[in-house]
Amino acid sequence: MPLRSLHAAAVLLLVVLKEQPSSPAPLNGSKWTYIGPDGEKSWSKTYPSCGGLLQSPIDLHDDILRYNASLRPLAFQGYNQSASPQFVLTNNGHSVKVKLPKDMQVRGLGARYNASQLHLHWGDKNDPHGSEHTVGGEHFAAELHIVYYNSDRYPNDSFAKDKPEGLAVVAVLIEVGSSNPAYDKIFDHLKDVKYKGQEVFIPGFSIEELLPERPEEYYRYRGSLTTPPCYPTVLWTVFRNPVQISQEQLMKLETDLYCTHMDDPSPREMVNNFRRVQKFDERLVYVSFQQVPDPPCTGLSPGIVLSVALACGLGICIVLAVSIWLLRRRKSSKKGANKGVIYKPAIKQETEAHA
Ligand SMILES: *[C@@H]1O[C@H](CO)[C@@H](O)[C@H](O)[C@H]1NC(C)=O
Ligand SMILES: *[C@@H]1O[C@H](CO)[C@@H](O)[C@H](O)[C@H]1NC(C)=O
Ligand SMILES: *[C@@H]1O[C@H](CO)[C@@H](O)[C@H](O)[C@H]1NC(C)=O
Ligand SMILES: *[C@@H]1O[C@H](CO)[C@@H](O)[C@H](O)[C@H]1NC(C)=O
Ligand SMILES: *[C@@H]1O[C@H](CO)[C@@H](O)[C@H](O)[C@H]1NC(C)=O
Repeated sequence: MPLRSLHAAAVLLLVVLKEQPSSPAPLNGSKWTYIGPDGEKSWSKTYPSCGGLLQSPIDLHDDILRYNASLRPLAFQGYNQSASPQFVLTNNGHSVKVKLPKDMQVRGLGARYNASQLHLHWGDKNDPHGSEHTVGGEHFAAELHIVYYNSDRYPNDSFAKDKPEGLAVVAVLIEVGSSNPAYDKIFDHLKDVKYKGQEVFIPGFSIEELLPERPEEYYRYRGSLTTPPCYPTVLWTVFRNPVQISQEQLMKLETDLYCTHMDDPSPREMVNNFRRVQKFDERLVYVSFQQVPDPPCTGLSPGIVLSVALACGLGICIVLAVSIWLLRRRKSSKKGANKGVIYKPAIKQETEAHA
């Protein structure tokens, strides 16, 4: 354990040393895209952190997951916002974003984190698999990120984003299923922010309604922003259970928005705005829930143990019964030894039964 925390401290120090001199905000930075010459392979030219440590998103697969009993449920405070102080919905050219009130907090991450904004990532209508995190190599349809900053240590999100322990993101995986009225509180207004730079007020609502069932089950790891400048300052919480939205709702997300300004002569649709999964060498993801399909003989439930015991008992009884029956047959065959050969196969059978 001390070794691990020493390692973590070393990584953090490296991150700090690496980040401090190299983070003057690049000019004209918002040029980055997901495809083409400014696509994700080129991000690290302008934003060195994108080619650096602790990058997100990642694939969540069994080999890297460790159950950790100290991961308690998060507590969401101030989530039930009323309709009157409105939220600002923005198209920033990369995603659609809702600015969140600072009095919205998440507790249970050690420090206190106040909310900053939420936004989404998605695919396109021909390939609707645009989540950033994948589970066992599989994409979900889309992903919601609620971004917080460490308000115990920093005064605001823009100050915190490149600082140690600066940010926390809570991620919701989204799949296609039944319609989800909570998400319409965002999706109903997408048409008003079709183009980059557009902004609209929308009625406030309870952000908690956007979360999945059993939010106490989640993945936890240290990673980065998934968009430039990719600062490695994010404490990630990815909920295990997805939420469902309908095909029609997903379609709005995939078709309503553009990355470009209204007057741009070559408009680009806002689709496939997800970063590919990143290398995850020598890191672990902690999970707050016990994996159900354990390897045999560990963590068996009492029910399974009982069934196995019963089956074994029954098996032993059958073997015993067969053996006794064969033994009796053999004895009787010895009595009638004159008839000889006919009974020889029975002896062979007996040895087989004991093998
Ligand atoms: C940024 O873009 C503006 C025009 O949009 C241009 O005049 C300026 O030279 C650019 N700066 C850099 C550093 O590329
Ligand atoms: C569980 O997670 C905590 C941080 O949340 C960490 O300090 C601790 O070392 C982890 N425990 C194990 C057994 O990995
Ligand atoms: C949110 O607050 C409203 C009143 O402001 C109340 O009617 C509603 O039940 C609350 N919802 C939750 C989930 O607490
Ligand atoms: C964070 O939220 C709490 C609770 O609403 C509030 O008292 C505090 O002022 C906020 N912190 C910052 C830095 O805005
Ligand atoms: C954030 O806090 C820093 C440091 O106090 C301050 O200089 C900056 O203006 C603040 N930014 C915003 C957007 O409030």
